[in-house]
Amino acid sequence: QLPCSLTLVIFGGSGDLTMRKLIPSLLQLYQQGHTPEKFSVLGLGRTRYSDEDYRNHLLEALQKYLKPEEFDREKAVEFLRRVFYLNLDPEKEDDYEMLRDYLKELDRETDSCGNYIFYLATPPSLYGVVPKHLIRVGLNDIVQEDADSNYLKYTHDLSKCKHPIRRIVIEKPFGYDLESARRLTDIYQHGFYEDQLYRIDHYLGKETVQNIMALRFANGFFEPLWNRNYIKCVEITAVENMGVEGRGGYYDNSGALRDMVQNHLAQLVALTAMEPPVQFDAEHFRNEVVKVYQSFRPLKEGDVHKNVVRGQYTSAEWKGEIHKGYREEDKVNPGSRTETFLAMKLFIDNWRWHGVPFYLRTGKMMPTKVSEIIIHFHSTPHQMFGTRDGTSVPNQLIIRLQPNEGIVLKFAAKVPGSGFEVKKTSMDFTYDSIGGLPTTNAYARLLEDAMLGDPTLFTRSDAVEASWKFFDPILKAWETDPSIPLYGYPAGTWGPLQSHEIMDDPTQTWTNPC
Ligand code: BG6
Repeated sequence: QLPCSLTLVIFGGSGDLTMRKLIPSLLQLYQQGHTPEKFSVLGLGRTRYSDEDYRNHLLEALQKYLKPEEFDREKAVEFLRRVFYLNLDPEKEDDYEMLRDYLKELDRETDSCGNYIFYLATPPSLYGVVPKHLIRVGLNDIVQEDADSNYLKYTHDLSKCKHPIRRIVIEKPFGYDLESARRLTDIYQHGFYEDQLYRIDHYLGKETVQNIMALRFANGFFEPLWNRNYIKCVEITAVENMGVEGRGGYYDNSGALRDMVQNHLAQLVALTAMEPPVQFDAEHFRNEVVKVYQSFRPLKEGDVHKNVVRGQYTSAEWKGEIHKGYREEDKVNPGSRTETFLAMKLFIDNWRWHGVPFYLRTGKMMPTKVSEIIIHFHSTPHQMFGTRDGTSVPNQLIIRLQPNEGIVLKFAAKVPGSGFEVKKTSMDFTYDSIGGLPTTNAYARLLEDAMLGDPTLFTRSDAVEASWKFFDPILKAWETDPSIPLYGYPAGTWGPLQSHEIMDDPTQTWTNPC
Protein backbone atom coordinates (compact mmCIF):
# COMPACT_ATOMS: atom_id res chain seq x y z
CA GLN A 1 0.00 0.00 0.00
CA LEU A 2 1.26 3.48 -0.83
CA PRO A 3 2.00 5.78 2.11
CA CYS A 4 -0.33 8.75 2.48
CA SER A 5 2.52 11.20 2.03
CA LEU A 6 5.98 10.95 0.54
CA THR A 7 8.77 13.13 -0.77
CA LEU A 8 11.08 11.70 -3.39
CA VAL A 9 14.42 13.45 -3.05
CA ILE A 10 16.54 13.16 -6.20
CA PHE A 11 20.28 13.72 -5.97
CA GLY A 12 21.28 14.59 -9.52
CA GLY A 13 18.00 16.44 -10.03
CA SER A 14 19.18 18.22 -13.15
CA GLY A 15 20.98 15.23 -14.64
CA ASP A 16 20.27 13.13 -17.67
CA LEU A 17 18.64 10.20 -15.88
CA THR A 18 16.22 12.50 -14.07
CA MET A 19 15.22 14.20 -17.28
CA ARG A 20 15.00 11.14 -19.48
CA LYS A 21 13.59 8.52 -17.16
CA LEU A 22 12.67 9.57 -13.64
CA ILE A 23 10.47 12.60 -14.21
CA PRO A 24 8.63 11.08 -17.21
CA SER A 25 7.99 7.90 -15.17
CA LEU A 26 6.80 9.88 -12.17
CA LEU A 27 4.39 11.86 -14.33
CA GLN A 28 3.01 8.62 -15.73
CA LEU A 29 2.55 7.19 -12.24
CA TYR A 30 0.91 10.41 -11.14
CA GLN A 31 -1.49 10.34 -14.08
CA GLN A 32 -2.44 6.77 -13.27
CA GLY A 33 -3.06 7.63 -9.63
CA HIS A 34 -0.09 5.49 -8.56
CA THR A 35 1.58 8.11 -6.39
CA PRO A 36 0.75 8.90 -2.76
CA GLU A 37 -1.97 11.43 -2.11
CA LYS A 38 0.50 13.96 -0.71
CA PHE A 39 3.39 13.50 -3.02
CA SER A 40 6.31 15.84 -3.64
CA VAL A 41 9.52 15.59 -5.61
CA LEU A 42 12.58 17.51 -4.54
CA GLY A 43 15.35 17.83 -7.12
CA LEU A 44 18.82 18.54 -5.75
CA GLY A 45 21.82 19.71 -7.68
CA ARG A 46 24.70 22.10 -8.06
CA THR A 47 23.04 24.04 -10.89
CA ARG A 48 21.14 27.07 -9.62
CA TYR A 49 17.44 27.02 -10.42
CA SER A 50 14.41 28.60 -8.86
CA ASP A 51 11.48 26.18 -8.49
CA GLU A 52 9.89 27.84 -11.49
CA ASP A 53 12.99 27.53 -13.69
CA TYR A 54 13.37 23.91 -12.68
CA ARG A 55 9.75 23.15 -13.51
CA ASN A 56 10.11 24.78 -16.92
CA HIS A 57 13.20 22.75 -17.58
CA LEU A 58 11.38 19.56 -16.62
CA LEU A 59 8.41 20.50 -18.76
CA GLU A 60 10.71 20.71 -21.78
CA ALA A 61 12.20 17.33 -20.88
CA LEU A 62 8.75 15.76 -20.55
CA GLN A 63 7.79 17.04 -23.95
CA LYS A 64 11.02 15.73 -25.41
CA TYR A 65 11.15 12.29 -23.82
CA LEU A 66 7.48 11.28 -23.74
CA LYS A 67 5.73 10.25 -26.92
CA PRO A 68 3.29 12.94 -28.14
CA GLU A 69 0.32 10.72 -27.24
CA GLU A 70 1.70 10.32 -23.70
CA PHE A 71 2.26 14.01 -23.08
CA ASP A 72 -0.65 15.99 -21.64
CA ARG A 73 0.58 19.52 -20.93
CA GLU A 74 -2.16 20.34 -18.47
CA LYS A 75 -1.49 17.21 -16.41
CA ALA A 76 2.24 17.81 -16.62
CA VAL A 77 1.88 21.36 -15.28
CA GLU A 78 -0.38 20.08 -12.50
CA PHE A 79 2.18 17.41 -11.59
CA LEU A 80 5.07 19.87 -11.70
CA ARG A 81 3.43 21.99 -9.02
CA ARG A 82 4.50 19.22 -6.67
CA VAL A 83 8.11 19.48 -7.77
CA PHE A 84 10.65 21.65 -5.97
CA TYR A 85 14.33 22.34 -6.32
CA LEU A 86 17.11 22.92 -3.86
CA ASN A 87 20.58 23.99 -4.82
CA LEU A 88 22.84 21.49 -3.00
CA ASP A 89 26.40 20.33 -3.46
CA PRO A 90 26.37 16.63 -2.51
CA GLU A 91 29.98 16.86 -1.40
CA LYS A 92 29.45 19.76 0.99
CA GLU A 93 28.74 18.67 4.55
CA ASP A 94 26.81 21.77 5.58
CA ASP A 95 24.39 21.41 2.72
CA TYR A 96 22.87 18.35 4.38
CA GLU A 97 21.80 20.33 7.42
CA MET A 98 20.17 22.70 4.96
CA LEU A 99 18.47 19.73 3.25
CA ARG A 100 17.16 18.45 6.55
CA ASP A 101 15.71 21.84 7.43
CA TYR A 102 14.27 22.26 3.97
CA LEU A 103 12.50 18.91 4.16
CA LYS A 104 11.11 19.75 7.55
CA GLU A 105 9.69 22.98 6.13
CA LEU A 106 8.33 21.20 3.06
CA ASP A 107 6.62 18.66 5.32
CA ARG A 108 5.00 21.44 7.22
CA GLU A 109 3.81 23.23 4.09
CA THR A 110 2.47 20.09 2.45
CA ASP A 111 1.14 18.63 5.69
CA SER A 112 3.32 15.54 5.22
CA CYS A 113 4.84 13.34 7.83
CA GLY A 114 8.51 12.89 7.08
CA ASN A 115 8.44 9.98 4.62
CA TYR A 116 11.39 10.29 2.28
CA ILE A 117 12.90 8.23 -0.49
CA PHE A 118 16.35 9.41 -1.53
CA TYR A 119 17.23 8.60 -5.13
CA LEU A 120 20.91 8.65 -6.11
CA ALA A 121 20.80 9.61 -9.79
CA THR A 122 24.38 10.82 -9.52
CA PRO A 123 27.73 9.70 -10.87
CA PRO A 124 28.82 6.52 -9.05
CA SER A 125 31.62 8.47 -7.34
CA LEU A 126 28.97 9.96 -5.03
CA TYR A 127 27.38 6.67 -3.97
CA GLY A 128 29.59 6.57 -0.88
CA VAL A 129 29.46 10.28 -0.10
CA VAL A 130 25.72 10.92 0.03
CA PRO A 131 24.75 8.16 2.49
CA LYS A 132 27.51 9.19 4.92
CA HIS A 133 26.05 12.68 5.12
CA LEU A 134 22.46 11.50 5.25
CA ILE A 135 23.39 9.30 8.18
CA ARG A 136 25.30 12.10 9.86
CA VAL A 137 22.31 14.43 9.85
CA GLY A 138 19.93 11.67 10.84
CA LEU A 139 17.98 11.53 7.60
CA ASN A 140 18.55 7.81 7.26
CA ASP A 141 16.49 6.44 10.01
CA ILE A 142 13.82 7.04 12.50
CA VAL A 143 13.78 8.28 16.04
CA GLN A 144 13.40 4.94 17.76
CA GLU A 145 16.90 4.02 16.69
CA ASP A 146 18.59 7.05 18.10
CA ALA A 147 16.61 9.03 20.59
CA ASP A 148 19.30 11.69 20.88
CA SER A 149 19.69 12.49 17.23
CA ASN A 150 18.96 15.92 15.87
CA TYR A 151 16.23 14.33 13.89
CA LEU A 152 14.07 14.06 17.03
CA LYS A 153 14.33 17.78 17.62
CA TYR A 154 13.36 18.76 14.14
CA THR A 155 10.60 16.23 13.48
CA HIS A 156 7.46 18.27 13.63
CA ASP A 157 4.74 15.71 13.93
CA LEU A 158 5.53 12.07 14.18
CA SER A 159 2.19 11.15 15.63
CA LYS A 160 0.69 10.90 12.13
CA CYS A 161 3.13 8.23 11.02
CA LYS A 162 4.14 5.47 13.35
CA HIS A 163 7.23 4.76 11.34
CA PRO A 164 8.44 7.34 8.83
CA ILE A 165 9.73 5.84 5.63
CA ARG A 166 13.40 6.33 4.88
CA ARG A 167 14.58 4.46 1.80
CA ILE A 168 17.47 5.01 -0.52
CA VAL A 169 17.50 4.04 -4.18
CA ILE A 170 20.94 3.58 -5.71
CA GLU A 171 21.66 3.31 -9.40
CA LYS A 172 24.07 0.75 -10.78
CA PRO A 173 26.94 0.02 -10.91
CA PHE A 174 27.13 -0.50 -7.16
CA GLY A 175 30.89 -0.40 -6.73
CA TYR A 176 33.71 -0.31 -9.18
CA ASP A 177 34.96 -3.77 -8.30
CA LEU A 178 34.60 -6.27 -5.47
CA GLU A 179 36.59 -4.28 -2.95
CA SER A 180 34.85 -0.97 -3.57
CA ALA A 181 31.44 -2.66 -3.57
CA ARG A 182 32.26 -4.10 -0.15
CA ARG A 183 33.36 -0.70 1.10
CA LEU A 184 30.12 0.83 -0.14
CA THR A 185 28.06 -1.88 1.52
CA ASP A 186 29.84 -1.10 4.78
CA ILE A 187 28.97 2.58 4.48
CA TYR A 188 25.31 1.85 3.87
CA GLN A 189 25.05 -0.82 6.51
CA HIS A 190 26.41 1.64 9.00
CA GLY A 191 23.19 3.62 8.92
CA PHE A 192 20.59 1.78 6.86
CA TYR A 193 18.95 -1.59 7.25
CA GLU A 194 19.08 -3.83 4.23
CA ASP A 195 15.33 -3.37 3.71
CA GLN A 196 15.84 0.37 3.29
CA LEU A 197 18.26 -0.17 0.40
CA TYR A 198 16.86 -0.33 -3.11
CA ARG A 199 19.67 -1.04 -5.57
CA ILE A 200 17.99 -0.48 -8.86
CA ASP A 201 18.63 -2.49 -12.00
CA HIS A 202 16.16 -1.22 -14.55
CA TYR A 203 16.27 -4.51 -16.48
CA LEU A 204 14.25 -6.07 -13.67
CA GLY A 205 11.60 -3.40 -14.19
CA LYS A 206 11.02 -4.55 -17.76
CA GLU A 207 7.79 -6.43 -18.29
CA THR A 208 9.50 -8.84 -20.68
CA VAL A 209 12.20 -9.65 -18.13
CA GLN A 210 9.62 -10.35 -15.44
CA ASN A 211 7.85 -12.58 -17.94
CA ILE A 212 10.84 -14.94 -17.94
CA MET A 213 9.66 -16.06 -14.52
CA ALA A 214 6.06 -16.46 -15.66
CA LEU A 215 7.23 -18.44 -18.68
CA ARG A 216 9.26 -20.78 -16.53
CA PHE A 217 7.23 -21.05 -13.36
CA ALA A 218 3.63 -20.64 -14.52
CA ASN A 219 3.93 -23.35 -17.17
CA GLY A 220 4.52 -27.02 -16.61
CA PHE A 221 5.94 -28.05 -19.93
CA PHE A 222 9.21 -26.10 -20.01
CA GLU A 223 10.44 -27.17 -16.59
CA PRO A 224 11.25 -30.82 -17.44
CA LEU A 225 13.36 -29.59 -20.36
CA TRP A 226 15.01 -26.71 -18.51
CA ASN A 227 18.32 -28.33 -17.66
CA ARG A 228 21.59 -29.74 -18.92
CA ASN A 229 19.92 -32.84 -20.37
CA TYR A 230 17.98 -30.88 -22.97
CA ILE A 231 19.66 -27.51 -23.22
CA LYS A 232 22.88 -27.26 -25.17
CA CYS A 233 23.70 -23.63 -24.41
CA VAL A 234 22.14 -20.28 -23.62
CA GLU A 235 22.91 -17.13 -25.56
CA ILE A 236 22.15 -13.71 -24.10
CA THR A 237 22.61 -10.61 -26.22
CA ALA A 238 21.92 -7.00 -25.20
CA VAL A 239 23.36 -4.68 -27.81
CA GLU A 240 22.71 -1.11 -28.90
CA ASN A 241 23.09 0.85 -32.10
CA MET A 242 24.23 3.96 -30.24
CA GLY A 243 27.53 5.13 -28.83
CA VAL A 244 28.02 6.71 -25.43
CA GLU A 245 25.59 9.54 -26.18
CA GLY A 246 27.30 12.32 -24.24
CA ARG A 247 28.04 10.04 -21.28
CA GLY A 248 31.72 9.66 -22.15
CA GLY A 249 32.87 10.94 -18.75
CA TYR A 250 30.98 8.24 -16.90
CA TYR A 251 31.44 5.48 -19.46
CA ASP A 252 35.18 5.84 -19.82
CA ASN A 253 35.55 5.00 -16.13
CA SER A 254 33.11 2.19 -16.42
CA GLY A 255 33.08 0.16 -19.65
CA ALA A 256 30.74 -2.55 -20.84
CA LEU A 257 31.48 -4.99 -18.02
CA ARG A 258 30.56 -2.56 -15.25
CA ASP A 259 27.83 -0.82 -17.22
CA MET A 260 25.90 -3.82 -18.52
CA VAL A 261 27.34 -7.22 -17.67
CA GLN A 262 27.92 -7.29 -13.91
CA ASN A 263 24.33 -6.14 -13.38
CA HIS A 264 21.82 -6.33 -16.28
CA LEU A 265 23.20 -9.39 -18.03
CA ALA A 266 23.96 -11.15 -14.75
CA GLN A 267 20.31 -10.64 -13.76
CA LEU A 268 19.17 -12.15 -17.04
CA VAL A 269 21.38 -15.18 -16.39
CA ALA A 270 19.91 -15.44 -12.89
CA LEU A 271 16.30 -15.38 -14.10
CA THR A 272 17.04 -17.92 -16.80
CA ALA A 273 18.97 -20.26 -14.53
CA MET A 274 17.40 -19.90 -11.08
CA GLU A 275 15.49 -22.59 -9.23
CA PRO A 276 11.82 -21.85 -8.66
CA PRO A 277 11.52 -19.72 -5.51
CA VAL A 278 9.39 -21.31 -2.79
CA GLN A 279 7.10 -18.33 -3.16
CA PHE A 280 7.32 -15.09 -5.03
CA ASP A 281 8.43 -12.57 -2.48
CA ALA A 282 11.54 -10.49 -1.91
CA GLU A 283 13.30 -12.95 0.33
CA HIS A 284 12.71 -16.14 -1.60
CA PHE A 285 13.22 -14.63 -5.04
CA ARG A 286 16.43 -12.90 -4.08
CA ASN A 287 17.74 -16.01 -2.32
CA GLU A 288 17.51 -17.87 -5.62
CA VAL A 289 19.28 -15.06 -7.51
CA VAL A 290 22.17 -15.20 -5.06
CA LYS A 291 22.45 -18.97 -5.39
CA VAL A 292 22.91 -18.62 -9.15
CA TYR A 293 25.67 -16.05 -8.72
CA GLN A 294 27.35 -18.19 -6.10
CA SER A 295 27.35 -21.10 -8.54
CA PHE A 296 29.18 -19.24 -11.33
CA ARG A 297 32.32 -21.25 -11.95
CA PRO A 298 35.21 -19.01 -10.82
CA LEU A 299 37.55 -17.98 -13.61
CA LYS A 300 40.99 -19.45 -13.25
CA GLU A 301 44.21 -18.02 -14.56
CA GLY A 302 44.11 -18.06 -18.33
CA ASP A 303 40.31 -18.26 -18.49
CA VAL A 304 39.98 -14.56 -19.23
CA HIS A 305 42.12 -15.07 -22.34
CA LYS A 306 39.95 -17.96 -23.51
CA ASN A 307 36.46 -17.04 -22.32
CA VAL A 308 36.24 -13.27 -22.62
CA VAL A 309 36.63 -11.04 -25.68
CA ARG A 310 36.58 -7.27 -25.39
CA GLY A 311 36.39 -4.64 -28.08
CA GLN A 312 36.15 -0.93 -28.69
CA TYR A 313 34.37 0.71 -31.64
CA THR A 314 36.38 2.58 -34.17
CA SER A 315 35.35 5.25 -36.65
CA ALA A 316 33.49 3.94 -39.68
CA GLU A 317 31.04 4.88 -42.37
CA TRP A 318 27.68 3.40 -41.50
CA LYS A 319 24.26 4.11 -42.99
CA GLY A 320 25.78 6.84 -45.13
CA GLU A 321 27.34 8.70 -42.20
CA ILE A 322 30.81 8.77 -40.75
CA HIS A 323 30.58 7.69 -37.11
CA LYS A 324 33.20 8.70 -34.59
CA GLY A 325 35.35 6.08 -32.98
CA TYR A 326 35.00 5.69 -29.22
CA ARG A 327 38.29 7.47 -28.56
CA GLU A 328 37.04 10.55 -30.42
CA GLU A 329 33.92 10.83 -28.25
CA ASP A 330 33.54 13.80 -25.94
CA LYS A 331 35.11 13.35 -22.48
CA VAL A 332 36.78 10.08 -23.50
CA ASN A 333 40.51 9.71 -23.06
CA PRO A 334 42.04 9.62 -26.59
CA GLY A 335 44.19 6.67 -25.51
CA SER A 336 41.31 4.94 -23.69
CA ARG A 337 41.38 1.16 -23.27
CA THR A 338 37.79 1.01 -22.03
CA GLU A 339 35.76 -1.77 -23.64
CA THR A 340 32.54 -0.89 -25.46
CA PHE A 341 31.95 -4.53 -26.40
CA LEU A 342 32.21 -7.69 -24.40
CA ALA A 343 31.45 -11.30 -25.24
CA MET A 344 32.02 -14.02 -22.70
CA LYS A 345 31.25 -17.56 -21.68
CA LEU A 346 30.39 -18.63 -18.17
CA PHE A 347 29.35 -21.87 -16.51
CA ILE A 348 27.01 -22.50 -13.62
CA ASP A 349 28.25 -25.33 -11.48
CA ASN A 350 25.11 -26.86 -10.09
CA TRP A 351 23.04 -29.93 -10.85
CA ARG A 352 20.78 -28.24 -13.34
CA TRP A 353 23.38 -26.49 -15.45
CA HIS A 354 26.66 -28.33 -15.13
CA GLY A 355 28.51 -28.16 -18.46
CA VAL A 356 26.03 -25.82 -20.20
CA PRO A 357 27.78 -22.71 -21.52
CA PHE A 358 26.05 -19.37 -21.06
CA TYR A 359 27.25 -16.93 -23.70
CA LEU A 360 26.80 -13.25 -22.90
CA ARG A 361 27.32 -10.39 -25.31
CA THR A 362 26.86 -6.65 -25.11
CA GLY A 363 28.12 -3.74 -27.16
CA LYS A 364 27.64 -0.17 -28.24
CA MET A 365 27.47 0.91 -31.89
CA MET A 366 26.23 -2.45 -33.11
CA PRO A 367 24.04 -2.74 -36.22
CA THR A 368 20.81 -2.75 -34.21
CA LYS A 369 19.36 -2.44 -30.72
CA VAL A 370 18.15 -5.72 -29.36
CA SER A 371 18.05 -7.69 -26.13
CA GLU A 372 17.19 -11.36 -26.27
CA ILE A 373 17.81 -14.71 -24.68
CA ILE A 374 18.11 -17.79 -26.86
CA ILE A 375 17.76 -21.21 -25.32
CA HIS A 376 19.41 -23.69 -27.68
CA PHE A 377 18.06 -27.20 -27.20
CA HIS A 378 19.95 -30.35 -28.14
CA SER A 379 18.94 -31.73 -31.49
CA THR A 380 17.45 -35.20 -31.87
CA PRO A 381 20.02 -37.99 -31.45
CA HIS A 382 19.31 -39.29 -34.92
CA GLN A 383 18.25 -37.06 -37.79
CA MET A 384 15.81 -38.96 -39.99
CA PHE A 385 14.55 -36.03 -41.99
CA GLY A 386 16.55 -33.63 -44.06
CA THR A 387 16.04 -30.06 -45.15
CA ARG A 388 16.34 -29.04 -48.77
CA ASP A 389 19.65 -27.25 -48.22
CA GLY A 390 21.01 -30.00 -45.98
CA THR A 391 21.17 -27.85 -42.85
CA SER A 392 19.70 -29.05 -39.60
CA VAL A 393 16.79 -27.31 -37.94
CA PRO A 394 17.72 -26.00 -34.52
CA ASN A 395 15.20 -26.14 -31.69
CA GLN A 396 15.34 -22.78 -30.03
CA LEU A 397 13.29 -20.75 -27.65
CA ILE A 398 13.89 -17.05 -28.24
CA ILE A 399 12.81 -14.70 -25.50
CA ARG A 400 12.79 -11.29 -27.16
CA LEU A 401 13.08 -8.65 -24.46
CA GLN A 402 13.16 -5.63 -26.78
CA PRO A 403 12.14 -4.54 -29.38
CA ASN A 404 9.44 -6.74 -31.04
CA GLU A 405 8.84 -8.08 -27.56
CA GLY A 406 7.64 -11.66 -27.51
CA ILE A 407 8.62 -15.29 -27.45
CA VAL A 408 9.39 -17.47 -30.44
CA LEU A 409 9.73 -21.23 -30.47
CA LYS A 410 11.67 -22.50 -33.46
CA PHE A 411 11.28 -26.07 -34.65
CA ALA A 412 11.05 -28.27 -37.74
CA ALA A 413 7.85 -29.08 -39.62
CA LYS A 414 7.24 -31.31 -42.55
CA VAL A 415 7.06 -29.60 -45.90
CA PRO A 416 3.54 -30.40 -47.12
CA GLY A 417 3.34 -32.82 -50.01
CA SER A 418 5.17 -35.91 -51.04
CA GLY A 419 8.39 -37.06 -49.40
CA PHE A 420 9.65 -36.26 -45.92
CA GLU A 421 11.53 -33.03 -46.18
CA VAL A 422 11.41 -30.68 -43.20
CA LYS A 423 11.86 -26.94 -42.89
CA LYS A 424 12.30 -24.39 -40.13
CA THR A 425 9.17 -22.88 -38.71
CA SER A 426 8.14 -21.09 -35.58
CA MET A 427 5.35 -20.37 -33.11
CA ASP A 428 5.23 -16.79 -31.97
CA PHE A 429 3.81 -15.02 -28.99
CA THR A 430 3.56 -11.26 -29.16
CA TYR A 431 2.29 -9.01 -26.39
CA ASP A 432 -0.42 -7.66 -28.68
CA SER A 433 -2.25 -10.92 -28.18
CA ILE A 434 -2.62 -10.15 -24.46
CA GLY A 435 -3.40 -6.47 -24.73
CA GLY A 436 0.05 -5.06 -25.40
CA LEU A 437 2.81 -3.87 -23.13
CA PRO A 438 2.20 -1.04 -20.68
CA THR A 439 3.21 2.37 -22.00
CA THR A 440 5.15 3.10 -18.82
CA ASN A 441 8.81 2.23 -18.77
CA ALA A 442 10.82 0.02 -16.44
CA TYR A 443 11.61 2.93 -14.13
CA ALA A 444 7.93 3.59 -13.46
CA ARG A 445 7.44 0.03 -12.24
CA LEU A 446 10.50 0.18 -10.00
CA LEU A 447 9.74 3.65 -8.63
CA GLU A 448 6.28 2.45 -7.73
CA ASP A 449 7.71 -0.65 -6.05
CA ALA A 450 10.11 1.54 -4.06
CA MET A 451 7.20 3.71 -2.92
CA LEU A 452 5.19 0.61 -2.03
CA GLY A 453 8.16 -0.78 -0.13
CA ASP A 454 8.52 -3.90 -2.24
CA PRO A 455 12.24 -4.67 -2.72
CA THR A 456 11.72 -7.92 -4.71
CA LEU A 457 13.01 -6.45 -7.96
CA PHE A 458 15.99 -4.70 -6.39
CA THR A 459 19.41 -6.18 -5.84
CA ARG A 460 20.39 -7.33 -2.36
CA SER A 461 23.87 -6.80 -0.86
CA ASP A 462 24.82 -10.46 -1.02
CA ALA A 463 23.90 -10.63 -4.71
CA VAL A 464 26.04 -7.59 -5.50
CA GLU A 465 28.95 -9.15 -3.70
CA ALA A 466 28.52 -12.57 -5.29
CA SER A 467 28.30 -11.04 -8.74
CA TRP A 468 31.41 -8.91 -8.23
CA LYS A 469 33.28 -11.93 -6.88
CA PHE A 470 32.80 -13.61 -10.21
CA PHE A 471 33.45 -10.63 -12.50
CA ASP A 472 36.27 -9.01 -10.54
CA PRO A 473 39.02 -11.35 -11.85
CA ILE A 474 38.24 -10.19 -15.40
CA LEU A 475 38.88 -6.58 -14.44
CA LYS A 476 42.02 -7.57 -12.57
CA ALA A 477 43.33 -9.58 -15.52
CA TRP A 478 42.73 -6.65 -17.89
CA GLU A 479 44.55 -4.33 -15.51
CA THR A 480 47.55 -6.53 -14.99
CA ASP A 481 47.99 -8.53 -18.18
CA PRO A 482 48.89 -6.38 -21.19
CA SER A 483 48.81 -9.41 -23.46
CA ILE A 484 45.00 -9.56 -23.30
CA PRO A 485 43.87 -7.86 -26.50
CA LEU A 486 41.36 -5.06 -26.85
CA TYR A 487 40.06 -5.49 -30.40
CA GLY A 488 38.82 -2.61 -32.48
CA TYR A 489 35.57 -3.07 -34.40
CA PRO A 490 34.11 -0.63 -36.91
CA ALA A 491 31.01 1.20 -35.69
CA GLY A 492 27.91 -0.51 -37.08
CA THR A 493 29.31 -4.05 -37.02
CA TRP A 494 28.74 -7.02 -34.69
CA GLY A 495 32.01 -6.60 -32.82
CA PRO A 496 35.33 -8.39 -33.13
CA LEU A 497 35.25 -11.65 -35.06
CA GLN A 498 37.24 -13.20 -32.22
CA SER A 499 33.99 -13.23 -30.22
CA HIS A 500 33.02 -16.41 -32.11
CA GLU A 501 36.12 -18.20 -30.82
CA ILE A 502 34.74 -18.54 -27.31
CA MET A 503 32.03 -20.94 -28.52
CA ASP A 504 32.51 -24.50 -27.23
CA ASP A 505 31.08 -25.94 -30.42
CA PRO A 506 33.28 -24.64 -33.27
CA THR A 507 30.35 -24.87 -35.70
CA GLN A 508 28.32 -22.47 -33.60
CA THR A 509 28.38 -18.70 -34.07
CA TRP A 510 26.57 -15.85 -32.36
CA THR A 511 23.01 -15.38 -33.51
CA ASN A 512 22.78 -11.88 -34.91
CA PRO A 513 19.19 -10.73 -34.71
CA CYS A 514 17.92 -8.40 -37.38
C1 BG6 B 1 22.05 1.44 -18.80
C2 BG6 B 1 23.46 1.67 -19.27
O1 BG6 B 1 22.03 0.86 -17.53
O2 BG6 B 1 21.40 0.57 -19.72
C3 BG6 B 1 23.46 2.26 -20.66
O3 BG6 B 1 24.11 2.54 -18.37
C4 BG6 B 1 22.67 1.41 -21.61
O4 BG6 B 1 24.79 2.41 -21.13
C5 BG6 B 1 21.30 1.10 -21.03
O5 BG6 B 1 22.53 2.12 -22.80
C6 BG6 B 1 20.56 0.09 -21.88
O6 BG6 B 1 19.28 -0.05 -21.39
P1 BG6 B 1 18.09 -0.50 -22.31
O7 BG6 B 1 16.92 -0.56 -21.41
O8 BG6 B 1 17.95 0.56 -23.36
O9 BG6 B 1 18.49 -1.82 -22.89
